[in-house]
Amino acid sequence: MSKRTFPTNFLWGTSTASHQVEGGTHNQWSEWEKAQARSLARTAQRRLGWLPGWKRIAAQAQNPDNYISGTGVRHYSQYAEDFAILTKLHMNAFRCGIEWSRLEPQPGEWDEAAIAHYRDYFQLLTQKGITPVVTLWHWTIPVWFADRGGFAKRRNLIYFERYVQKVAELFGGQLSYVVTLNEPNVYTGFSYATGEWPPQQKNPLLALYVYTNLAEAHRRAYRILKQANPQLHVGIAAQLSDTQAVAPHNPLNRLGVAAKLYAWNWWFLNRIKRQQDFIGVNYYFTEYQDWLGRLKNPVTPVSDLGWYMEPSSLERLLIHTWERYHIPLVVTENGLADSADAHRTWWIDQTMAALESALQHGVDLRGYLHWSLLDNFEWAYGWWPQFGLVHVDRTTMKRTIRPSARAYAAYVKRYRAPNADRGTTP
Ligand code: BGC
Repeated sequence: MSKRTFPTNFLWGTSTASHQVEGGTHNQWSEWEKAQARSLARTAQRRLGWLPGWKRIAAQAQNPDNYISGTGVRHYSQYAEDFAILTKLHMNAFRCGIEWSRLEPQPGEWDEAAIAHYRDYFQLLTQKGITPVVTLWHWTIPVWFADRGGFAKRRNLIYFERYVQKVAELFGGQLSYVVTLNEPNVYTGFSYATGEWPPQQKNPLLALYVYTNLAEAHRRAYRILKQANPQLHVGIAAQLSDTQAVAPHNPLNRLGVAAKLYAWNWWFLNRIKRQQDFIGVNYYFTEYQDWLGRLKNPVTPVSDLGWYMEPSSLERLLIHTWERYHIPLVVTENGLADSADAHRTWWIDQTMAALESALQHGVDLRGYLHWSLLDNFEWAYGWWPQFGLVHVDRTTMKRTIRPSARAYAAYVKRYRAPNADRGTTP
């Protein structure tokens, strides 16, 4: 017996972020890259020497150029070519970003060229039958906003509101899905608690304050966007951890896991419960921890970044999230760093099965956006990790579709076909 699972309007696509692909961005991250490139290169072996693939990446990871986003992959100018790839891969959705620092390079001054760019960009996507899922803030902020203290000052939220208001006026009628914030937990963790990302603060109390400010920023953005267009689907992209007890029979171990999940996954979502039309789920890895909170992951398989891979566990995470909130879910990021494309097809096979099982379990799942369309700038790691379904040669900017992208496209084609049913793997 065959049974239809994916709704016809299911969003099938890929995900990107402005700073990681556009090229030519000028924001607090691009400034920080220039200041930190040499020291990141110098300390690479100490930080990354343990990776199984260290020998392969050593030269690049020890080169300061690796840490400069620079020309990106020229997505800002080559977007039409990238959209044509989406069409070739049968996609009907694309998560992309608006770069705040482009739109408002100086406080209150709006850049007409940037406005025209994003207008054309969304228009072309829509013409091609591809739904834009647009992120307003993916960790980068204009330098002037950073200089005023960024999200570490509650009074600065008025600037974020003004930006959101402008986006709502300019593009609110053109869009149907908006992600206000990307992974507030990862950002506050690395930028304000561990001090690894700009502005390199190591202050847990300040981190908590920034976290609460981001929750408030989302609530205000939600109101503004819905006022401009009540039809918009507004949510955040949450980095949700699938943490498991390595000894599930041990109550202390289970308690530790519950505490981690509450602090990392649910605290923020609880604060914005009433201001979400969907929850964006970003899932990359499963982590097993012992009763002291120490990581006890299996040794293999791991991605190029050394992250333990258990893609089938997305099913458990989706079910758990759905049962907690009963708000529609969209997988807004999911993928792996795999420059040889050795594991990605397996990952996609496992993931498609996980999505289907979650749907059959009753989860209201609206979309799947693989991270990423293109090899891109992986923040403090720089350029060596390659998450792209499509490889980009950064010298020529030539795009090459990887075999795993074709495997994903075959699923999408079959699932989007009229009267699609469950069958064998394409
Ligand atoms: C971020 C992306 C990043 C990806 C892979 C997510 O946490 O939103 O920007 O590239 O993880 O590390």
